[in-house]
Amino acid sequence: MTSPSFPAAPDTAPAPFRSFASDNHAGVHPEVLDAILAANADHAIAYGDDPWTARLGEAVRREFGERAEAYPVFNGTGANVVGLSAMLPRWGAVIASELAHVHTDEQGAPERVGGIKLLPVPSADGKITPDAVHAHAGALGDVHHAQPLAVLITQSTEVGTLYAPEEVRAIADAAHGYGMRLYVDGSRLANAAAALGTSLRAITTDVGVDALSFGGTKNGAMGAEAVVVLDPAAAPGLAFVRKAQMQLASKMRYVSAQLLALLGESDGDDPLWRRNAAHANAAAARLRSLLDDDVAAGRVRGLGFAGPTTVNATFAILPKPAADRVRETFPCYDVMPGPEAGTVVSRWMCAWDTTDDDVDRFVAAVRSALS
Ligand SMILES: Cc1ncc(COP(=O)(O)O)c(C=O)c1O
Repeated sequence: MTSPSFPAAPDTAPAPFRSFASDNHAGVHPEVLDAILAANADHAIAYGDDPWTARLGEAVRREFGERAEAYPVFNGTGANVVGLSAMLPRWGAVIASELAHVHTDEQGAPERVGGIKLLPVPSADGKITPDAVHAHAGALGDVHHAQPLAVLITQSTEVGTLYAPEEVRAIADAAHGYGMRLYVDGSRLANAAAALGTSLRAITTDVGVDALSFGGTKNGAMGAEAVVVLDPAAAPGLAFVRKAQMQLASKMRYVSAQLLALLGESDGDDPLWRRNAAHANAAAARLRSLLDDDVAAGRVRGLGFAGPTTVNATFAILPKPAADRVRETFPCYDVMPGPEAGTVVSRWMCAWDTTDDDVDRFVAAVRSALS
């Protein structure tokens, strides 16, 4: 038998492809993959009547409280549209920040699929306050106006800011005072809880949130989110809405198994969601601190920041050509024009698997782009 001939091994391995553009660019955490593999045995009843989805229900009650109900879905946009649709009557509208993902990045899905009017309110830091709720409440009862019957906040926000638990409570109280419901886009709820050092429950159930999306995909899942209903009276018929809006998985065990891997199955665990979120946040904090030191020491010029780094995203202000040079090595997005002509705000995002070496190489690319 003759040996096959192989091409000679290259002298140097190609640099691994690493990205700072989105936490969605990271792969799947091995514990999640193991959970998917473990779920891949025998047959299981479809559409959620399987043991993994039942165990997920228990995990969600443990994390969010006894009344919590979990509805696994495929993606974050779907979670938002299903959750809001179930909360609102046909004439309902949602008050949200003008930077909210539902308004800027979901291709009009809440409007197109859910028939929901969004009422965007100005917001520089991605957050809204009770004032926005009071301002829209005047439309209640006026037949000419879409009825503002829900408020949406994103935690952590699209621009990397956080709502303190008492800020959420104030919005919930204002909303409930008018009979409105409060929904949280929790695509990065894990990052928020890890950064605030709280439980998931402390920033949702305990401060008056009625329903939320719990994001798994950015936190190390392959593709799994859940609508979590905290007050069952707030979202009647959600199971029907999920099917009608094409978010009901037949082989739901695989979606549920991923979320279960993130949430863990017992009280004593340090759950994977927290480990992954804390890791991503810490990588972002390290990136920021290295560059803060460079700016303070005058080693790089022309670099500023649009706000503090509190979770896993840093919003840097730099000349557009420098942002383009960084992009020659690492993908990242410019999200808006900077405050001065010729500058941009570039979003640099870390993930559950961002390594110290990734951060060091990224910082070196920024230094070189600004030198
Ligand atoms: C804040 C926020 N909400 C919702 C979504 C939607 O998630 P998906 O892309 O899975 O639909 C994203 C995705 O980037 C997001 O950042």
